[in-house]
Amino acid sequence: MNTPDLSTTIGQVTLPNPLLTASGTFGYGHELLESFPVQRLGAVVSKGLTLRPREGNPRPRIAETRCGLLNSIGLENMGLEAYLHRVLPLLRERGVRVVLNVEGRSEEEFYALAEKVEAHQPEILALEVNVSCPNVEGGLWFGQDLGLLERLVRGMRARTRFPLWIKLTPSGVDVREEARAAEQGGADAVVVANTYPGMAVDVARRRFLLHRGMGGVSGPAIHPLTLYWVHEVVGAVGIPVIAVGGIHDFDSAVAYLLVGARAVQIGSALFVDPELPYRILARLPDYLRDQGFSSVSSLIGSLRLDRPATQRPQT
Ligand SMILES: Cc1cc2nc3c(=O)[nH]c(=O)nc-3n(C[C@H](O)[C@H](O)[C@H](O)COP(=O)(O)O)c2cc1C
Repeated sequence: MNTPDLSTTIGQVTLPNPLLTASGTFGYGHELLESFPVQRLGAVVSKGLTLRPREGNPRPRIAETRCGLLNSIGLENMGLEAYLHRVLPLLRERGVRVVLNVEGRSEEEFYALAEKVEAHQPEILALEVNVSCPNVEGGLWFGQDLGLLERLVRGMRARTRFPLWIKLTPSGVDVREEARAAEQGGADAVVVANTYPGMAVDVARRRFLLHRGMGGVSGPAIHPLTLYWVHEVVGAVGIPVIAVGGIHDFDSAVAYLLVGARAVQIGSALFVDPELPYRILARLPDYLRDQGFSSVSSLIGSLRLDRPATQRPQT
């Protein structure tokens, strides 16, 4: 059998393989250029960028939990302008494919971000629009209000020609409805999903572990939850779905492809195992061959529950 084709398509975007890094867990990306073959990844998703630089939330803003992480970073970042001038050229010079993750406090800020990116005509693959950050005041509003979400996506669509990947929240809403609203607004893909709201307590000191009290849960704990949502969203919309949540080994990544994700993003696992994406990539051809698939595309969606996607889970 020939070498399996690892490429995947997400709307108009074709990637050489389906392994991406998740926003906020890979620095800005350029810090790792000397240590890892970053250009081999399908793409790198930037840290969340806002119009102006942000300091983020007071520390402590990260805590370890039994099966993952709790973070309340609060979108600390250098701002879009600095990223476009200082970081993006370094990544592009090395042939790294880049997706820009952006977040606004208001519709106007989201639109300004879209216009700024458009005006710079940077070499990026897509804009990942974060409507799902649990760590800043109002960060979830856009994802949780379906009417607002559809309007926001439509407004961004009118302002940029870049593909729009909308990163959804799994908190408080049916993610299928959210995905439909994004699709209605003109999204090119949905990213399922951001972190789940959570908290942790230091019992001896009778204090919350995070300064802000609550944060977003990521890591292995959320994998089954997000796998369910990815399966459901794939059945609910016609646009491509990108999966992110709790990938920690080869199997947890491939599970997402089997239920229909066209690509996966690896997040918290990078903090403990930065080589994980490259190991998954190295093993993928053998797995495909052993399972009788000639390509990643034919593997994608080959495991689906035979029932309407709108059915609620049985408890
Ligand atoms: C420290 C940290 C910072 C994050 N920052 C962002 C961010 O700026 N924008 C965003 O859309 N998601 C952000 N996320 C969410 C991740 O991109 C990802 O959706 C989430 O962690 C679930 O994936 P995982 O379980 O593989 O970590 C962050 C997550 C962590 C742990």
